[in-house]
Order: sequence, then C-alpha cells, then structure tokens
Amino acid sequence: MRLNDVIEGDCIDVLARMPAESVDLVFADPPFNIGYQYDVYDDRRAKADYLDWTAKWIAAATRVLKPSGSFFLAIGDEFVAEHKVRLDEQSLTMRNWIVWHYTFGVNCAKKFNRSHAHILYYVRDPKHYKFNPDSVRVPSARMTTYADRRANPVGKLPDDTWVLRPQESDEHFRPDSDTWFVSRVCGTFKERVSHPCQMPEAVLERIIRVATDEGDVVLDPFAGSGTTLAVAKKLGRKYLGIELSEQYADGVRKRLQMIEFGADETEPVAPVKKRVPVRK
Ligand SMILES: C[S@@+](CC[C@H](N)C(=O)[O-])C[C@H]1O[C@@H](n2cnc3c(N)ncnc32)[C@H](O)[C@@H]1O
Repeated sequence: MRLNDVIEGDCIDVLARMPAESVDLVFADPPFNIGYQYDVYDDRRAKADYLDWTAKWIAAATRVLKPSGSFFLAIGDEFVAEHKVRLDEQSLTMRNWIVWHYTFGVNCAKKFNRSHAHILYYVRDPKHYKFNPDSVRVPSARMTTYADRRANPVGKLPDDTWVLRPQESDEHFRPDSDTWFVSRVCGTFKERVSHPCQMPEAVLERIIRVATDEGDVVLDPFAGSGTTLAVAKKLGRKYLGIELSEQYADGVRKRLQMIEFGADETEPVAPVKKRVPVRK
C-alpha cells in the first residue's frame, strides 16, 4: 500500500484494493448532498442513490480499519441520522456524537443561521481502541473560573461539544465541552486553499492526536483540500488520501509539498501541552 500520498479515484474502488485492517484512523468528510459546487462530483443526487452509495463507502472504509481503529465521520444535519444508522450496521460502536460549533457559516434570510456540523466518533472494538487523553486536555472551569484547588492540574478531557476557541465565547461554550467551537476557514485565513468545503486544521488536530500515535496510519477517503493529510503529516503520522477530482488531488500534493519545504503559512499545529497552569 502506497502511503503518504493522495490517490486520485473513487474511494470505493481504491478502498477495495487496500489490505484489510491496515489503518488506525479513518476520518471522512463526505459530500453532504446539499448542492455544493464541486468541480467533478454532483452533490445533488437522488436520496436513495446517495444513501446506497453511503452504505457502500462506509462498509469499504470499515474493512480497512484495524481492530483497534477509530472512525470519525463529519456530516451535516440533513443526513446525520442516516449515516449513524449505516455506521451502526457495520457493528461499529459509537463513543461520541460530537457537535462542532463554528462561526462564519452561511447567513440565512428566513431561518436561523446554521453554526454547527456533526462528527460521529466510532471504534471497531469498544474494549480495545486507542484514546490518548493527555494529548487533548483543556483547562477545566474549576481552573479557569473558580480557582478551585481540587482541579486536576493537567486539565480535563474536552466535552463532546467541541470549543476550540473558548476565548470567543466563555459563557456559552465551556472548553471542556463536547461542542467544539472553531471558525470555518474564511477567505482571509492563512490556511485557506482553493476548495469549497475546507475543514479547519484545529478540528483534525484534536482527532488525530487523540486517536493515533506517531507513525500510525490515517486514512481520508474524501481528501478534498487535504486538511487531514496536512495535519497527519505535521503530527508525524503516516497518511493516505483518496480524492475523485484531479484538480483537488493536485492541490493536496502542493499543500503537502509546502509542509515538506517548510513553506506552509498556516499557524503551526500546537505542541502537546504537558501541564495547564492554574489561575491563582
Ligand atoms: C466535503 S469535501 C472534503 C473536504 C475535506 N475534508 C477538506 O478539509 O478539504 C468532499 C470531497 O469528496 C470528494 N469526493 C466525492 N466523491 C468521491 C469519491 N467517490 N471518492 C473520492 N472522493 C470523492 C469531492 O471531490 C470533495 O473534494
């Protein structure tokens, strides 16, 4: 299996050629079937056709997952329930239904603006999986707000509402929550590349750190702009992406090269924090 690359092609075909039980983490951000303008893929398929395809790629991705592997799937409101049902059908076990809260979503005229996506977190074996709590701890409210001496000095695990920039919303989104707060990648951001649904690196950083160790294999069957691969590379993981579009795959290769040449302009992926200081 060729690693540390992006393969152009249909993920179901490519996954079928990969050895079974060969990757530690699958992160998948498939098309949401809501009419996004991709260059090749048609994001307005008949519902039955989309769901039939969803079941097939989920089964194909599960086959390549190691027995100790984790599967994170990002999806919107429209089809989150259907994706959960299909993950359950693979005999995977759900560990968290994470809500990623973001800013800079699309402004609506006649309904509330959407500011979240879902990240379903599953493992193959509920007794044997990789979860690195110390790599993703955040300061607890006991530390930041109450200066409580009983606080664990190394912080606590994030809640399943993820808040990655708590400084912007102290009151509503605690940093230890399962609602994650990360802005979408705006046009002015340094990490912005040319792709309609680029994920922020901060979301992938937390997932890759918690579910893998250095040298583990991370697979993204819908590579898009290459966020998963870029973060995996920065964190010393092996990686493999699959992308239908030749143009996007070229973009991913360029993005990975920029990291190789030290020319990546994004904020550096944060080093692991060993201790979180307690406020006096
Ligand atoms: C939501 S985007 C992924 C965005 C990515 N997470 C990022 O951060 O840039 C989905 C991607 O899946 C690709 N795609 C659609 N169908 C595919 C297929 N059958 N196999 C591989 N890639 C596919 C699309 O071209 C698109 O780039």
